[in-house]
Amino acid sequence: MKEKFYITTAIAYTSSKPHIGNTYEAILTDSIARFKRAEGYDVYFQTGTDEHGQKIEEKAALAGKSPQVFVDEVAAQIKGIWDLVGVSYDNFIRTTDPQHERQVQKIFKKLYEQGDIYKGAYEGWYCTPCESFWTESQLVDGKCPDCGREVKKAKEEAYFFRMSKYADKLLEYYEKHPDFISPVSRKNEMINNFLKPGLQDLCVSRSSFKWGIPVDFDDKHVVYVWLDALTNYITGIGYDADGNHGEKFLKYWPAVHIVGKDIIRFHTIYWPIFLMALGLPLPKKVYGHPWLLQDGGKMSKSKGNVIYADDLVKFFGRDAVRYFVLSAMPFDNDGLISWKLVAEKINADLANVFGNLVSRTVAMTNKYFGGTVENKGVSGDTDEDLKNCSCGMFSKVSAKMDEYRIADALDEIFVLFRRANKYIDETTPWILAKDPDKKDRLETVLYNLNECILTGVSALYPFMPETCEKAAAMLGEKPRAFDKLGKFGVADKYTVSANPEILFARLDTDKILEQVDKMNEERSEVKQSEVGGDCSAKPEITIDDFSKIQLKIAKVLACEKVEKSKKLLKLTVQAGEETRTVVSGIALAYSPEELIGKKLVMITNLKPVKLCGIMSEGMIICAEEKSGKLSFLTPERDVEDGSEIF
Ligand code: MSP
Repeated sequence: MKEKFYITTAIAYTSSKPHIGNTYEAILTDSIARFKRAEGYDVYFQTGTDEHGQKIEEKAALAGKSPQVFVDEVAAQIKGIWDLVGVSYDNFIRTTDPQHERQVQKIFKKLYEQGDIYKGAYEGWYCTPCESFWTESQLVDGKCPDCGREVKKAKEEAYFFRMSKYADKLLEYYEKHPDFISPVSRKNEMINNFLKPGLQDLCVSRSSFKWGIPVDFDDKHVVYVWLDALTNYITGIGYDADGNHGEKFLKYWPAVHIVGKDIIRFHTIYWPIFLMALGLPLPKKVYGHPWLLQDGGKMSKSKGNVIYADDLVKFFGRDAVRYFVLSAMPFDNDGLISWKLVAEKINADLANVFGNLVSRTVAMTNKYFGGTVENKGVSGDTDEDLKNCSCGMFSKVSAKMDEYRIADALDEIFVLFRRANKYIDETTPWILAKDPDKKDRLETVLYNLNECILTGVSALYPFMPETCEKAAAMLGEKPRAFDKLGKFGVADKYTVSANPEILFARLDTDKILEQVDKMNEERSEVKQSEVGGDCSAKPEITIDDFSKIQLKIAKVLACEKVEKSKKLLKLTVQAGEETRTVVSGIALAYSPEELIGKKLVMITNLKPVKLCGIMSEGMIICAEEKSGKLSFLTPERDVEDGSEIF
């Protein structure tokens, strides 16, 4: 019977269209899944979307949509991109799937009834974007240790999970399973930074927003998004909290989890502990991959440096994009991506090495032998070296894959392609062709080249499936089974295609960059017209025009939510002698408590206007990021309220 192999990606947030970094993870996991299938494993591959939480609720409100409509749209977009890049998942789970939601409720109740979850009150520092509470000592320079953003003091009645109860057991598990976390450096980080200092009980419910799975026996609370999200790995294959598990769960669990470096803690501490509490086997492995970065920095919408997979595919094709992201990413350091790097890598590896080898070999097989060559057994000086390289390649690839060193595995395949190109230079078939006595030697050379190509594309198939099928078809074959890749001389003969297509044409990098700039410009024009034009589209004004606007520093004395409005806050501000009421649309960016005591910039001579029944006597100045996120402006030094701005 085939050995089982269950593999998962992290499930992507449905907060926005995924960038090439998120997509990288899906491609990486897909390559491993395809490789394992080709090795003969019975593979089950699950991916999907993480759809609950405050951040998504806020994003939906900003887009003027209900959370469900919003996540339906983004989940469809994510699935579309995974399909576009050829992710061969067996199941695409959504955390809004009713079956998942029901199981999460049952799991929560089970853990509560058995005493692992208890009700308490939480007071701590809360990071809204990360949806995480932190203790004072966990903060870094007073900010969120994960994302570096502002945190706010918050107190909530909440349910807690007794993490500390399982800490020793988890450490023991790490010791007994040295391969559980990879790379090993991540394991040390978990032990030294989290387990050794002592695990805090984890707050596993929220009552400050609604978009989550309700705790069914206390529906003021929704289940903490990470408890909801992590359980996808078992609910998606038929886990049932009452013990009536589906067939797939019984067959495939436990899994190998492929996740990004930022969420290793959730997968190697919280998740195993939840599983221990449920009495289930722990994951076989958690591989925390590095990140794909743009220009040495994190890819983010607000930085405007986001590269999307669908754009890359439009320019370069699916397999070239797969090849780039897989080969650009070292095992434990971050990788870099830019349009220029992609174009250059395609030229260097795919056009010059792989494509060139295939096209030269097919062309010469056609030219000198009418398209068919067989092994005439006339060997020359470098044949042994070539054959050794070909026969030894797959075992090296497979060893790298066992360690999840995908880029290194690809390198081993390209070593063979390079060696074969060198073999053409060494054997100079065009000179052999001039001597009728060397005909059999020439045919042997071309047979050897065809054989090397087929061996190479068979190993490359999981990474670039369409291209490898195409390349094999050009030699009149299909990609070969892995167990044949250690041999040389497997085919009797090769009959190549009479009209081979070019696998990878050389790209003009400058031209590509020009086209990308044009695409980005067109996009930003569309964006500007959607929001009614940017500042440069406004008419020029004089200093007199500007001086008509009175701006002052205002200190927030009190602040509260405006009833029946998601976006509005009512602020009472002090500007020197005067106190005013201002209604401002910043409720999605700030909580009332966060604003109290802050000094803001206010327009004080705007005509008062009634908003939601409240007279607003000023306007707070904010900066708006491309994503729509707002941030108020504040003086660089602490200045008296009422100070004039000019
Ligand atoms: N929803 C959580 C995961 C829950 S799993 C139970 C999440 N979602 S995410 O959309 O932010 O990220 C999805 C995956 O993409 C994560 O593994 C994350 O580390 C990875 N990446 C996010 N940015 C990335 C890069 N720039 N490069 C590579 N991977 C990146 O986290």
